[in-house]
Amino acid sequence: MRLSVRISSLTESPTLAIGAKTRELKSRGIDVLSFSAGEPDFDTPAAIKDAAIQALRDGFTKYTDSNGMPELRKAIAEKLQSENDIPCEPSQVLVSIGAKHSLFNVFQVLCDESDEVLLPAPYWVSYPEQIRSTGASVVVIPTSEASGFKVTRADLERYASTRTKALVLCSPSNPTGVVYTKEDLQTVADFCVARGIFVIADEIYEKLVYGGAVHHSISSLGPKIRDLAVTVNGFSKTYAMTGWRLGYAVGPKPIMEAAANFQSHVTSNATSFAQKGALVALKTPNDFLGQMVAEYDRRRRYCVERLNAMPGVSCVTPEGAFYVFPNISGLFGKTSGGRRLTNSMEVAEALLEQARVGVVPGLAFGDDRCMRLSYATGMKQIEEGMNRIEAWVRGI
Ligand SMILES: Cc1ncc(COP(=O)(O)O)c(C=O)c1O
Repeated sequence: MRLSVRISSLTESPTLAIGAKTRELKSRGIDVLSFSAGEPDFDTPAAIKDAAIQALRDGFTKYTDSNGMPELRKAIAEKLQSENDIPCEPSQVLVSIGAKHSLFNVFQVLCDESDEVLLPAPYWVSYPEQIRSTGASVVVIPTSEASGFKVTRADLERYASTRTKALVLCSPSNPTGVVYTKEDLQTVADFCVARGIFVIADEIYEKLVYGGAVHHSISSLGPKIRDLAVTVNGFSKTYAMTGWRLGYAVGPKPIMEAAANFQSHVTSNATSFAQKGALVALKTPNDFLGQMVAEYDRRRRYCVERLNAMPGVSCVTPEGAFYVFPNISGLFGKTSGGRRLTNSMEVAEALLEQARVGVVPGLAFGDDRCMRLSYATGMKQIEEGMNRIEAWVRGI
């Protein structure tokens, strides 16, 4: 069967693929500990659930405006103004079916086949495939521990071309947990303004920052960059609402109007009663978040300490999100289960088969020297997982 060339060339999300393999082993009764999921192990706060249940009871079950309920767009615009220092109107806000959907809309609106999109690596797995689905080319900018996994002005100068349309910036980052400072963002903004390059700023982990790190929005750095930047965010990570599928984007009016028009033909609105829940989420008292962040912080420090104590493994301390991204290239050349390990995929496979631990190979994020573990899972599982990894590392 001949499928479209564009879509046939897309690959399955590797995080989902390793998750599926882990589930398959579990379904066979095999005791596997999975660190691959990118979702909070906390439950959605009760007040948010109650609002959605009440909305259902009240018959709030019809279409809403396809770009989102006016009250929700207004509340998001107020949040962006007060928390992120991004002046905007509700008409610039597009509520979508997850941040993933918001990103997809924005790439579709901005990119043509002749365009290039700069993507600093390590990157979140869906960016390259979403960009390629528009026909545009992905230009990966490698970064490393040496630069704190941040993109520098020299990197931008080296990789930008006359075809560069946009840059994707994810801070706090999945998978590295790096958080760009205001100065870092200013460097990126200055470059993009000078070259007229759009910025797609994924800020979905904005509230999950630790150890004094502060999240800033690139769109807050003045009107010139604001005219080029689209900020993407969502409810999944901050309010433990992954299954609700709610995200949003805000940006210059022409982009947002085009994205809303596109969305109106593809999916229409995000689920009506979920939007009612989101309205309450924005008013969630900070203690829910405070408790969640404190717990993630505890796990983060534990993971970094344990990983750095393993021979051949080194782990930069992440400042945000809920992942650790240790460098495991020191294990390459060793043998596990009769097989010589040469890359992150082989390490991930060996960990699953020999240690019964599910991790995501760094290759999926554009960095084959590393692997990603999510610490959005219980402390007991983390302790046991680290014990298993350490025993395996010491045994190979
Ligand atoms: C960096 C990043 N952006 C976007 C998303 C998508 O989030 P949502 O659940 O809102 O679609 C994820 C989810 O893992 C993510 O890690």
